[in-house]
Amino acid sequence: MTDPGERLRSSLAADLPPAAAEFDSPIAMEAMRATRVLHAGDQDPFPAPGRIRVLTIANQKGGVGKTTSTVNLGVALSLFGLRVLVIDLDPQGNASTALGVEHVVGTPSIYDALVGEATLAEVTHPTTASPNLRCVPATIDLAGAEIELVSVVAREHRLRRSIEAHLHALPAEERPHYVLIDCPPSLGLLTLNALVAGDEVLIPIQCEYYALEGLGQLLSNIELVRAHLNPGIVVSTILLTMYDGRTKLADQVADEVRNHFGELVLSSVIPRNVRVSEAPGYGQSVLTYDPGSRGSTSYVEAARELAVRGADLGPLVPVQQAPAAVAPVAAPPLNALVLGQSAAARSQEDS
Ligand SMILES: Nc1ncnc2c1ncn2[C@@H]1O[C@H](COP(=O)(O)OP(=O)(O)OP(=O)(O)O)[C@@H](O)[C@H]1O
Ligand SMILES: [Mg+2]
Repeated sequence: MTDPGERLRSSLAADLPPAAAEFDSPIAMEAMRATRVLHAGDQDPFPAPGRIRVLTIANQKGGVGKTTSTVNLGVALSLFGLRVLVIDLDPQGNASTALGVEHVVGTPSIYDALVGEATLAEVTHPTTASPNLRCVPATIDLAGAEIELVSVVAREHRLRRSIEAHLHALPAEERPHYVLIDCPPSLGLLTLNALVAGDEVLIPIQCEYYALEGLGQLLSNIELVRAHLNPGIVVSTILLTMYDGRTKLADQVADEVRNHFGELVLSSVIPRNVRVSEAPGYGQSVLTYDPGSRGSTSYVEAARELAVRGADLGPLVPVQQAPAAVAPVAAPPLNALVLGQSAAARSQEDS
């Protein structure tokens, strides 16, 4: 049995509780959660989104779970049947590491697409997690990109143009359903590129004190991007991470976030779980490293929720052009791309 999705499902199956009466221990609770993941109907592939979803995973606060969420949501979506492209936009290259993708200096990477002339196809690598999941790695070269990009024309649009050109060039059946962009912990030019490239922002929020600090600045930056550079960008998803059920503080933070952001907050919460933090050391996601762990099952649940919400999405509503003072995006918008569209329709559209 080599398929990681199959391994995940059978590992979870092995944890099934023998009787409902035993649901009173932490282990039994965990098994019950695994059962939910395994529920017959739920084992079907996740629903495909109504259009390609480009999700920017951003929070300028460091260590809140951006990379962990990008990787594990990406792996969960791909193991449950969806095509995913993860773009590592952090010079630390942590997402590349967790996906088992080489990122030593010299590896074709996102740097070559942003600063150089490489196409995204040329810098996209397969991953060890799933054939459905591909990754554009980041090398340490990217650390210099913010300075190198300063003098480049339309520097905020580099990533968007690269993604759009890539998606248009791919045959419909190879286009990813999800493009996940892992941002560095700053609001510099790299994160700006990711906000201009995305249709949606997913903000991971750590269930800790100070979690909400700096969030206002992120939200006002997103507003600025919406006003001047990317009218289509919305904060669509908030994910609570590193939840520690033993502390009152975690509940208080979760309540506060839910009061503020309402339905944007996924009901699935990612617990603090040591398996999640161990997995990258083995070049793996937690889903492949320890499929039955609480970290794994919670990321599967969060990914399912994300996918179910995405299934209701229609094509993007055409948005107003950016003000003339700002360089407009030259490439056709992503809403022109429909998943599964025939080659003939595409060539007509591209002509
Ligand atoms: N649910 C979790 N349980 C335990 N540890 C976690 C969990 N999520 C993330 N971690 C650990 O917390 C640390 C920070 O996570 P991560 O790297 O995903 O955050 P980040 O927001 O991407 O950080 P940065 O801002 O540096 O890019 C990592 O060591 C990671 O393994
Ligand atoms: Mg990170």
